[in-house]
Amino acid sequence: MPGVLLVGNGAREHAIAEAIMRSGQDPKLFAYMKTNNPGIAALSSKSLVGPYEDLPTLMAFAKANGCEFAVVGPEDPLNLGAVDALLAAGIPAVGPKKSLSRLETSKSFTRDLVRKYNIPGNPRYETFTRPDGIEAFLRELPAVVVKPDGLTGGKGVKVQGDHFQTKEEAFDYCREVLREHPAVVIEEKLEGEEFSLQCITDGRTVVATPPVQDHKRRFVDDRGPNTGGMGSYSDADHSLPFMRPEDVQAGLAITQKVAEAIYRETGEYYKGIMYGGFMITRDGVRLVEYNARFGDPEAMNILPLLRTDFVEVCRAVVHGTLDRLAVEFEKKATVCKYIVPKAYGLPKDHPDAKSTSAKIEVGDVGSARLYYASVDKKADGLYMTASRAIGVVGIADSLDEAEKIAESAITAVKGPVDHRPDIGTRALIQRRIDHMQRVRRG
Ligand code: AMP
Ligand code: GLY
Repeated sequence: MPGVLLVGNGAREHAIAEAIMRSGQDPKLFAYMKTNNPGIAALSSKSLVGPYEDLPTLMAFAKANGCEFAVVGPEDPLNLGAVDALLAAGIPAVGPKKSLSRLETSKSFTRDLVRKYNIPGNPRYETFTRPDGIEAFLRELPAVVVKPDGLTGGKGVKVQGDHFQTKEEAFDYCREVLREHPAVVIEEKLEGEEFSLQCITDGRTVVATPPVQDHKRRFVDDRGPNTGGMGSYSDADHSLPFMRPEDVQAGLAITQKVAEAIYRETGEYYKGIMYGGFMITRDGVRLVEYNARFGDPEAMNILPLLRTDFVEVCRAVVHGTLDRLAVEFEKKATVCKYIVPKAYGLPKDHPDAKSTSAKIEVGDVGSARLYYASVDKKADGLYMTASRAIGVVGIADSLDEAEKIAESAITAVKGPVDHRPDIGTRALIQRRIDHMQRVRRG
């Protein structure tokens, strides 16, 4: 009976917890959470609530419960060195050490690695630590994206045409970034459709999971501010309707080369998840970014489809034996939708602002999967806590059916909540296909 430590408390970690507990090895789950996720707590033998910064307590909890290995869900504990601390206590982890989690936290680290090892996928880019030279570089590119070099919770990236219009505004933003961050990365703006390719690796072997498309914008038709992700879908053929088979292969090939480059550069094997955000452009697949963890919501699309025992997958990652394991996924379509407080992602003075701490009731979600995110279970019921509250996932033979299952689950949740009814619908997916065709034609 392996003891498994899970770090994290979002819907992504609820999906990880479920995957662990589906194992035929009769595992015992020990959860270390920042807030009490009722879904994870229900699956755990024991759970402990504490800050990610408190690494001694995290280590003591893992040791006291005889954990064989750990799975670290979010980026914050990775960046705080949770994996280094666990390793020092003799507990290996699915998740990179702090120095390797730079793959996510440092845009310049990843871009420079891809450049140095001649891996395809980079757009044109430069890194600046001072304003000198920025204006000249901005003039060289038709349109730009400005990225602070450091962990910003996905909120610091600004795209020309979306967040600002002119090169003057781009320059102003670069100077603002440099006041708070050591460096700023300026990139050519890519045009195309994005997909998430979450890969599992022991540092040598890289295994792709089915590609997923996320929806960052808060409102229907991709309007409104960017969010952590309002929902996502994956298709039964392990491709996406706007993709060609070679696009998945290109994303995987880039990730395999990056894993190898990390080893050559640092002498260490990256163990965990390499989640590549890719854009299919007219000139092929380009790398937008890497995350050092599963996506949230994207983990909810792929983990329920995993046919291979997840505990075996984790052991293969930590022992470096992933080449000997066939990792398989059900050939099903999935649609994940996040239920959020009405005021999620909106200014604090919004008329619905109170919704972010409102009580909700969860009824029967039918055949859908339900994963808790930012909720707080109090004596008198379930309350939302500002961010995305609950993820629901429909799983079926087709996207149409999966979408309907997710939608009907949403009607079971009562309270001042909102979601995106368009995610996973035929109409929205057709728009992606049409957009991709326009991009490919040029
Ligand atoms: P990142 O934090 O790097 O994932 O950036 C957040 C979002 O900004 C991405 O999901 C893309 O939609 C967009 N983005 C980032 N880099 C580029 C780029 N070079 N061209 C176009 N869009 C980009
Ligand atoms: N869904 C985007 C992310 O997890 O970063």
